[in-house]
Amino acid sequence: MPDADPAAIRGDLTENVDAAQALTENVDAAQALTEIVGAAHTLTEPDVVGGYAVDWTGRWRGAPLAVVRPADTGQVAAVVTACAAAGVPVVPQGGNTGLVGGAVPVDGSVPLSLRRLDSRGPVDAATRTAAFGAGVPLAEAQRHVAADGWEIGVDLAARDTATIGGLVATNAGGERVIRHGLTRGQVAGIEAVLADGSVVRRMTGLLKDNVGYDLGQLLIGSEGTLGVVTAVRLRVVPAAARRAVALVGCGSVAGAVDVLAGLRPRLDAGPGELVAAEMFVDDGLALVREHTGLGAPLPDPHPAYLLVETTGGPDDALPEALAEALEATEGVRDAVVADEPARRAALWEYRERHTEAVAADGTRRGAPPVKLDVSLPPASLGPVVDDVRGVLSSAYPDAVLYLWGHLAEGNLHLNVLGVDPADERAATDLVLRTVAAAGGSIGAEHGIGRAKVPWVGLSRSPAELAAMRAVKSALDPARLLNPGVLFD
Ligand code: FAD
Ligand code: MLT
Ligand code: ZN
Repeated sequence: MPDADPAAIRGDLTENVDAAQALTENVDAAQALTEIVGAAHTLTEPDVVGGYAVDWTGRWRGAPLAVVRPADTGQVAAVVTACAAAGVPVVPQGGNTGLVGGAVPVDGSVPLSLRRLDSRGPVDAATRTAAFGAGVPLAEAQRHVAADGWEIGVDLAARDTATIGGLVATNAGGERVIRHGLTRGQVAGIEAVLADGSVVRRMTGLLKDNVGYDLGQLLIGSEGTLGVVTAVRLRVVPAAARRAVALVGCGSVAGAVDVLAGLRPRLDAGPGELVAAEMFVDDGLALVREHTGLGAPLPDPHPAYLLVETTGGPDDALPEALAEALEATEGVRDAVVADEPARRAALWEYRERHTEAVAADGTRRGAPPVKLDVSLPPASLGPVVDDVRGVLSSAYPDAVLYLWGHLAEGNLHLNVLGVDPADERAATDLVLRTVAAAGGSIGAEHGIGRAKVPWVGLSRSPAELAAMRAVKSALDPARLLNPGVLFD
């Protein structure tokens, strides 16, 4: 263990002196970490570390001291304790699919990869819950519970890589929120390591358990700034026996909002349940088609598209009910309905492949997209999209805006390309101020990470921010857990 004065090292780090230099001079932290997790899981080779040091978008990167891959909660606690003693920042990392730079190491920090925490417990049918290690990818958790006829109420396109711990840390939204709510609503228990290395564990699955502050709920959405999530007990729901998907051509974004408003009560009155309502527009579809080679989904193009999915029991006439409801809904310009799995998946591809298509366009243009994730009252979506297009094009005539999102929650993903990197901050400011002025939130489902720290004051009052800082100071007084995320 290090023999230097940890307080002195911490002082160096918080004063922003070159952290890596401070460490090599004062402690052999890497050696201490190797003793805990083994040499094979203390990664320092630049080639190997590279994938942990840059985010999915390629926008954010750092120079870590060493990437550490603990095998269990005990090792996580030991690593966090050792780093706290040495004053070394710790950056929890799951699948590294986050889009706001929250899992990327600050220089001289230890990215703590949780992927080896991959335990999967059986579904407890009495409480309808199952426990998972934080590092289990969502798709594996989905397959695990599906084997016994259950499903998880969260789903998103990054499912093959995003981990359960990452979903919880970001309170991820995704494509099932209309039916099941955010990740927060799916969490029935959490185990986590706090900044001082202590372990808090509430994994009983008791449905009623009100004994003081709910620490688990506090950790959800805290983006690795209050603790390292090591295990999660997730709620499960009976798997749907049938599904139907419709892709609907609409006249505009506001038109898609109106179609959903007209369709929803009709679907509520029929068999099945609405589980997804997603949106994209014409130029995004064109980009996806160019990137993927997919054919046109409908004979004619439309300014905006609504994708809905309904689920039901084995005997429910879902496609027929969906087609009838669409027939009766004003504003539907055209629609295709699918219930056979491959056709359903093909319709979903038009929506889910937007992220990669826009990333590829960024690569072509030489700069990744500025990714903004906002929410608005649904009625404001149409006007705000027009306003954002207007302010962007007058300030940055070469800017290109791709947008899509989760329509029922008024959650828009605004991706800006074609802006000079020197103007990105100003362009972000324009867009986020336009959203905030319309009563929206600057952070809908991806979190704040490092990307949106300058704008949190647009969506939280000084009193709220002071309370958040007080919580952070109480649980992580040395500010070693994910420094630079959420707060300056
Ligand atoms: P990471 O990226 O590794 O980390 C994200 C944040 O959580 C960081 O701040 C990190 O420090 C923290 N963290 C990670 N694991 C832990 C842990 N065990 N304990 C404490 N803190 C931790 N997001 C949505 O909400 N909805 C979507 O529909 C959606 N779709 C996406 C589609 C694509 C193609 C991509 C690339 C991303 C998408 N995302 C979406 C964003 C991303 O997948 C989510 O934010 C996801 O929850 C991140 O999980 P992760 O394991 O990759 O976390
Ligand atoms: C989505 O819904 O497609 C995502 O949240 C990812 C993105 O915004 O790129
Ligand atoms: Zn999304």
